[in-house]
Formats: sequence, C-alpha cells, structure tokens
Amino acid sequence: MKELPVIDLELGKKEAPLGDLYGLFFEDLNHAADGGLYAEMVQNRSFEFSEIDKEGYHPLYAWFNEDGSPLKFIPLTIRVLMDTPIHPNNPHYLKINTKQSLAIVNKGFHNGMYFERNKKYRFSLFGKPDCGNPKISIELRDANHQTIGNEVITIDGDNWNRFETIITSRETVENGYLLIRFDENTDVAVDMLSLFPVETYKGRINGCRKDIAELLESMNPKFMRFPGGCLIHDGSLNSSDRDSMYRWKNTIGPVETRPTRGNSWGYNQTLGLGFFEYFQLCEDLKTEPIPVLPAGFDPHHQRAVPIEELGPWIQDALDLIEFANGDINSKWGTIRAEMGHPKPFHMKYIGIGNEEVGQAFFDRYVYFHKAIREKYPDIQIINSAGPFAAGSEYERGWQSARQNGSELVDEHYYQSPDWFLANHHRYDSYDSNGPKVFLGEYASKDNKWWNALTEASYMIGLERNADKVALACYAPMLANIDFVNWKPDMIWFNQSKVYGTPNYYVQKLFMKYQGTHTIPFQLNNLPEKQLKSKKSSGGDILIKGDGAIIEYDDFTIIDHSAGIEQHVKSGVIEDMSLAKVGISESDNYTIKFTFKKTGEKWDKGFKILFGYEDNDNYLTWALGGWQNQDCLIDCMREGASSVLTQSIWAVETGVAYHCELHVKNRFITTYINGQLFNEIEDKLTIIEPIYANAVYDQKTDEYYLKLVNVQDIPFTFRLATDRVEKLRAIEISGLPEMSNTIDNPSTLEQKEYDLSETKDDITVPAYGILFIRMNACKGT
Ligand code: AHR
Repeated sequence: MKELPVIDLELGKKEAPLGDLYGLFFEDLNHAADGGLYAEMVQNRSFEFSEIDKEGYHPLYAWFNEDGSPLKFIPLTIRVLMDTPIHPNNPHYLKINTKQSLAIVNKGFHNGMYFERNKKYRFSLFGKPDCGNPKISIELRDANHQTIGNEVITIDGDNWNRFETIITSRETVENGYLLIRFDENTDVAVDMLSLFPVETYKGRINGCRKDIAELLESMNPKFMRFPGGCLIHDGSLNSSDRDSMYRWKNTIGPVETRPTRGNSWGYNQTLGLGFFEYFQLCEDLKTEPIPVLPAGFDPHHQRAVPIEELGPWIQDALDLIEFANGDINSKWGTIRAEMGHPKPFHMKYIGIGNEEVGQAFFDRYVYFHKAIREKYPDIQIINSAGPFAAGSEYERGWQSARQNGSELVDEHYYQSPDWFLANHHRYDSYDSNGPKVFLGEYASKDNKWWNALTEASYMIGLERNADKVALACYAPMLANIDFVNWKPDMIWFNQSKVYGTPNYYVQKLFMKYQGTHTIPFQLNNLPEKQLKSKKSSGGDILIKGDGAIIEYDDFTIIDHSAGIEQHVKSGVIEDMSLAKVGISESDNYTIKFTFKKTGEKWDKGFKILFGYEDNDNYLTWALGGWQNQDCLIDCMREGASSVLTQSIWAVETGVAYHCELHVKNRFITTYINGQLFNEIEDKLTIIEPIYANAVYDQKTDEYYLKLVNVQDIPFTFRLATDRVEKLRAIEISGLPEMSNTIDNPSTLEQKEYDLSETKDDITVPAYGILFIRMNACKGT
C-alpha cells in the first residue's frame, strides 16, 4: 500500500516573527463609509449634495415630500440658503417658512431605513428659529406610512443650536423612513438632520454600524489601512476644492464644521467618518492604524504640486503623526484631546502614496520620507509600487524604497485564481534584508469559494515568507449592495443585514490563527504536483482596436519552430472590431508590425491577442491601455484576467511605432522602436498536493498547522510529530462555485472537532482548509 504523506513539525524552534501580518483595507468606495460603516442613517443630512460630486445630485437630493415625490424648492416656503450657515465649510441649510403644516422625508441610503423594535435612535439637528419657538415632530415610519416611533423638538435660541432627541421604535421594519414635520406658521432654518442608532459599535457618538464593525472585530485584524486606495490621490491640489485630494485635516473637528466632498468614486462623502474616527475605530478593533496620505501627485490626471510648494503637504504628514501620537501639549495632540482622546493612538506606520505611477511621485516621495524620518525615526514608512505585480512602476517603487530606506513597499494586484496558484512561490526569492512587502491590495477577482481557496493557498506562501512579507490585506473590504463601484469585495451589506463572502471566512481564519512565529516543518511522501494550465503559449493571433482607429503595416508572424512566416497586408482596425491575423502552433514565435493611431478616438488602445484558445483563454499585448498610460501584458485564464507586467507608455497620434513581441516557451518580451518594454514569464499553473505552513503562537502557547487543499480529492496524511496533545481541527470546505448572498449568507461547510485520537490519519477535505491547533506536551 502507498505510504501516506507525512508532516512533521519542529516544536520549540521559532523562525520568522509574523508581526502584524494580516489586516484590513478600508476604502470609501461602494458607499462603504457613508451609507455603510458610518452609522448615519440620513442621506444628504446637510443639503450639501452637488452636481460636482455626481450627475443628478442637488441640495435636496434624497429628500422627499410626504407623498413620496422628490422634495422641490418652493419659492419662500422650501429653500436651500447660504446666507448665515452654521459654518463656512457647511454652507447650505434648509429654510422652511410655511403657513400650512409641511413634512419632509428621508429614506436613507437604500429603499428605506431599518428600524428595530425597542431599539433607540438618536435624532439631532441644528436649528435657528426666525420667528417664535417652532416645534418639529420627528417620526419613524414603516413602509405603510404608520408611525412606529415619534418625538417632538422645540427650536429656540437666537442663533444656530444643536437639538437632540432619542426615539424608540415600536416595530422592526426593513423599509422605513424618517419624517420631519413642521407645524403651520413655522419659520425656521435647519441643518445637519441626522439619525443614528444609539447602539453604535462600542456606543460611540458619531460612530460605526455595530453589525459591520463587529464582523470586523471578530476577524482579529492586526491592522487597518485607511482611507483608501485611489480615493486618496485622485483629486485637485487645492485642499478647499470640492474635488480635492483626500486631505485629512478636512476630516476632523465637529462634524458640522467638516466640508462634505466629492468622493472620487462618484458620490458625496460627508467626512463624518474622518481621521479621528478611523483612529478610534482601530483602537476599538484593537488593530494598528495605517493611514495613507497623498504625496501631492494625482497620477490619474497628472496633477503635481511643484516640488518647491510641497511644504504644506509634508507638514500634513508630520502633523498627522503629532495628531495621532503627540502629547496633549502639542498643537495637534491638543486637537485630538479636544475631540475626546487625550491619550495617544500609538500609530506605528504611515503610507505615502497609493499605487503610484510615474517619476513625479517618486521625486516627491523623497521629501516626505526625509522629513518623517528626521522628526519621527520610529515611524515605519510605506512606499508605493504601482497597481501591478511587475513592470516599470513596480520596479521603480522597489528601487525608490531601497534608495530611501522605506521599511515597506505597498504592492497591489487583482488577478485570476490561476495567477495566485501559478505565483505561489513569488516571495521565495525576495531579499529578506531589504524593505518588506506590504501587500496592500489583492483579490482573486470573484467572491466564489474557488477564489477564496486560491487566496488561502497564496496566504500560505505569504506567511511562509514572513521574513519578507510583513503586512497583507485583502481589498476592497466593504460593499453596499445598492451602490457597487467595484467587485469583488470581502463583506456585503444592506440597511439591515451584513454578510461575509467565502473570502471573508478565509481572511478571518488566517487572522484568528495567525500566530506569532513560523516554525520549521517537513513534508514527506507527497504525491506529484498537478499541471493545470496548457503547456504551450501558441495559438491564434488577433488584433483589436479597443475604441481606437489604428493603421497597421507589415504585420509578420514568424513561427520559429515550424519555420513558417506569415505576412498580413497593411490595414485599419477600428473601434471594438477584432480580426484574426494568423497563428503560431508552437510557443516559439515573433510578431512584428508597425502601427499608427489616427484620429482623436482612444479608449483602451491597440491590442494584440496571442496564444488565443478561446474567449476565456488568451494573452494580450495592450499598447496605450488605460487612459493611454500603459504598455502591458495581460493573461486571461478561464475568463479571469491578470496583468502580468506593465510599463507606462503613451501613444502619440500620427506617430508610427515599430513593435516586436517575442514568445519563447512561456517567456514574453516586447520592444517598441527597439526599446525593451515588457519582460515576463507567463507561469504555468501548477497545483501542489497540499499548501502547508506551521506556526507557533506565543500568546496562547499553541501551535497551528495550516493546510489548504485546492484539489477535488481529499488529502490524507500522518502527523509524525511526537509530544503534541489537545489536537483540535477547524475545517472549512465547499464547492468551487459556491458563494454567499444576503439571503443565503453561509453556504460553506464549517466545523470544529477534536483530533486527539487520529494523528495517523488526518484528512483535509477536497476543496478544503484544515487548521490544526495543538499544544506541546509539557516537558517538550
Ligand atoms: O480597491 C479598489 C481600488 O483598486 C483602489 O482604490 C486602488 O488602489 C486600486 O486600483
């Protein structure tokens, strides 16, 4: 009989520390903050919505009449004014001057608000009477227009004042709404009409949604990166512009004094969840805060602060560290204390820039780095390595990190499940003496169990390389099911429910059982590895003018193995048309051509598809892709694409370029006018019989053996380690296509069981993950 695979752990030997390895990435996209984690239930509470944020927005957006029709301006009766605002940063307010009783309605961020029976809701507003002491009735209503909770507020005083009341809901309703009634003969100005559940996460006023934050807390994350992604650097350079880059100083202080802004993901952000709240949330979650700041460069629109004017931007970074860590006598420490947190937040890390492309960022990064290093030598500084897993910007980021001595480099990639399997050993060859990897954004492009499982196999590789990979977080974290900018996402929610995807359960498992140190272990008698992808890079060759008009000439395909040369006459390819131009049966070929862009039209550039099997499996050379900024190689496998490598490059109209693509085995190189542009191996997808790592947890004095099986057959092995006891298994498995939904939020099989009796025959289920917790016998 064939011997079982054997796993043996070397107890008592600690290797690389695992530090803060697994954490969270938060970005306010998909309405993750307003209409999401931030517990405010009213949309457009301060009448600041504007066309600048999104087409169709206006100051009365999301407000309705009692009959459900959109609220409109009525001369002298319903107006949005700017004459005497609460604060210049919050210039608009609602002016009601009515003879008859009049009601306005807000349904929140969905088809309605969720109210729970016997739960309390904090309604507040700022009001300024222009005549008498008007009474305002506040009602929670169900979808049938029945009142299920109500209170009355009397507005008095000569100026703006804040008024608050707590309303208890008598019923649980899914699609309720808030109704605010002004009595007859009312003349009043109101602003900041706000409704929060009293039960926010940890009971914080202006706090977070309890259910969402508790889901995060249950993961045991070691850090949280905020406030984004592209959100931080996409914007104008002037911090008081409505569409400015994310400037943290705009996000602190009393909420009614914070300017609401255009969010670069196409909606309004109130900034109610600002930097103080982010730090507070991190503290409540017992996780390290990792703020990321813009470096005065917007790569999306090529806006750059002149180097000699960088001073205030660098000061922002220094002030942020003082805000988080300074004592209460420092300027920014005082502001933190005034906001309710005299103790420092003990921030350890700061990120400068987000997936930056172009030398302009790196020219600026140096100044930030020097200033932070000089004033705060203990802060770990994170550099940026572009949006792709390899290529010119990736290299530029790493080079800058080595030159400047950045502690960490922020890598981002969203790839196919196959890519994660093929690149399992990516970090094995990294230098453990240089800057460490912060894998600040990654995901395998869907929320099915297969995606989560391939991510799990990859995470085994991350922690096995904990001497090179210091931090890693899945991205993005949150999506409101009614406002989706980006998929996949780890956690989805509506107004009443929140659920984790299979990817969430993987992240949670790895976070909860992260451990403090890797330990050595041996795997013996393993079965053969399996080859998943086809061996050859040969196949059809097609061209596509992805939204462009391209003239091409001398298109030649040379199949070196077969000794065949194919010539295609010159031609024009337009818009989205796709044309087959030849084939290479072998995986040793060269494609040469000259091309020219004519006309102004340009979407995703000129594409050469090669090694084409079918619509779901091929390689692409994209010339002048995304915003005419890229020259990249992309690999489509089973319908999911991965950028293998990218260089920045722009196509000029009317200029002829001579291009060459060489494929040898699976190595791909490209040249434009004789200059090397891309160089990459399209790695074979090889499935290992088991993905394994073993760690020790100093805090619990436990060992964890972590096993991921991506095959359709179970993996059974013998644990040869002597002197271990109290073996407990945590197992998750499912079918590759399984995914969770709001109505069916837990499709995976998850169980925990005792393993003390079965060390000789332990099974990791097909498509399954098995973690084994164990203790060393005393005296080991
Ligand atoms: O996570 C979504 C987006 O992906 C982030 O904003 C950006 O950094 C990346 O391109």
